[in-house]
Amino acid sequence: MTPGSASSPAPLIVGNWKMHGLARDLREARALAKALMARPSRATVALCPPATLLPLMSAALKGGPVATGGQTCHAQDHGAFTGEISAAMLADAGASYVILGHSERRTGFGETDAAVAEKALAAVGAGLTPILCVGETRAERRAGRTFAVLEEQVRGSTPAGLGGYPAAVAYEPVWAVGGDRTPAADEIEAAHAAIRASLVGRLGDDGARPPILYGGSVTAANAAAILALREVGGLLVGRACLEWRSFLAIVRAADPVREGLPSPA
Ligand code: PGA
Repeated sequence: MTPGSASSPAPLIVGNWKMHGLARDLREARALAKALMARPSRATVALCPPATLLPLMSAALKGGPVATGGQTCHAQDHGAFTGEISAAMLADAGASYVILGHSERRTGFGETDAAVAEKALAAVGAGLTPILCVGETRAERRAGRTFAVLEEQVRGSTPAGLGGYPAAVAYEPVWAVGGDRTPAADEIEAAHAAIRASLVGRLGDDGARPPILYGGSVTAANAAAILALREVGGLLVGRACLEWRSFLAIVRAADPVREGLPSPA
């Protein structure tokens, strides 16, 4: 399917600021929103800043074309969990989305599939759209375990009750995150097809609905080609979303190519 063709659903393009950004960097988000207001994109666009910036960014972007999201949440609504932030708090701070089970949280903070599934239930309970991240390591790919790992992660991280709620899954091969290589086109298509099959296995017909985003070294140079692949319903972008022009160029990759000719009067 060509990006921008009338038959393809609007892709979801999400920027993950990770642990980057001070109050002054909100100008990047404002500039992005301004550009998308001047020329709307067919993509649904969201930025996930660090929690300290979430209320500020949500207020700055309120009512505009860029939504906001958190980068993780706790499974409980409130309680004695020093340092944690609940899904309800993210929603209260203006978020519409929350990234869950990112590989940096799985490897750096011991987040398990079961924990991701609990957080996903808390997220939908708070009215957020969870973006569940799955992906194999380089060693797992080399060992021929990619599909088994994806199946296990989707099954373990997707709560059975997720069916009726809006949700997304992101395929993020761990070896492509923060690097300079993306998988080949047929590898992305095969992984997305495997994730779709696992989602349908887990959720029945509802498993056909969540868009499957690709994430890992997405740039303005490769975004259009990745968006054109089968079962790619959007992108999860790290480094290239920190600067508004480079993120805008990725968002524009979802839009039909304009001819550059003035339209008839
Ligand atoms: P990257 O990060 O675009 O910098 O590779 C992607 C991600 O972690 O979601």
